[in-house]
Amino acid sequence: MWIYLNDRFVDRKEAVVSVFDHGFLYGDGVYETLRAYGRRIFMLAQHLARLQRSAHLIGLELPIPEKDWPPLLNEAIQRNGLDEAYLRITVSRGEGDIGLDPALCRRPTVVILALPFKPYPVHLLQEGVQLAIVPVRRNLAAALSPQIKSLNFLNNILAKREAVKAGAFDGLMLNAEGHLTECTASNVFFVQAGRLCTPSVDCGILDGITREVVILLAREQRIPVEAGRYTPESLRQAEECFLTNTTMEIMPVREVDGKPLGSGRPGPVTLTLRNLFQSNLARFLW
Ligand code: PDD
Repeated sequence: MWIYLNDRFVDRKEAVVSVFDHGFLYGDGVYETLRAYGRRIFMLAQHLARLQRSAHLIGLELPIPEKDWPPLLNEAIQRNGLDEAYLRITVSRGEGDIGLDPALCRRPTVVILALPFKPYPVHLLQEGVQLAIVPVRRNLAAALSPQIKSLNFLNNILAKREAVKAGAFDGLMLNAEGHLTECTASNVFFVQAGRLCTPSVDCGILDGITREVVILLAREQRIPVEAGRYTPESLRQAEECFLTNTTMEIMPVREVDGKPLGSGRPGPVTLTLRNLFQSNLARFLW
């Protein structure tokens, strides 16, 4: 396996990072997860723009110019002989003495991983997953903005632990006001009275790139879409619910907190959007 580390592709055995790296010591860094279909990357420009935004928000200058990322990602896919790929770009603050000041680190550490894409089990996509609304609240935007896709994932990991404890596939977090936000690595949508609803970005979520595509496809299909503030009760009364992210695309939800949602099967809006996602995919590949 070839891994890009800092300035070159190295074998997996040589792909090691210092124990003084501030990404390891403090979770100081940013990342992106991308996906390639038949070697073509989904929403590449948007992922690179979000990486840039995350880096900017933590005052980290990406050591690789914008135009160099696409060829590097392509090379990572090709060197590893992949067609369907999971790609991860990680940029940490870099190696430096102990201490929180980023100035202790001379240059950021860059890693690009290209791994074979592992699809989710078909039965989950067909039947839907179980969600738990977890006690852990989503990070307050004014403390650590969920719009920074940072290496510091403890908020999400603690929520995931709660979900696993509750026997659910994933945990849905509320914000400090008690409104729905997102799951540990995906955005959430639900359907109520034929309207497609999703928590707005100002509820404190990552503005998912799959979310953006789903909103676009729904609008093109004249499905009414609204981004707003919702209580757990509105989700419990929903007819349908699904999650979105780069690796799962659109994942139906069949149960929330142990209670079936709607018919307990993926509903018509979910299925329509999933078909549209598939049939329009080529529009979003680079
Ligand atoms: N996760 N919300 C959170 C907290 C996420 O971590 C992600 C992505 C999303 C969905 O974003 P997108 O549609 O751009 O993938 C929402 C990725 C898959 C990850 O962490 O690997």
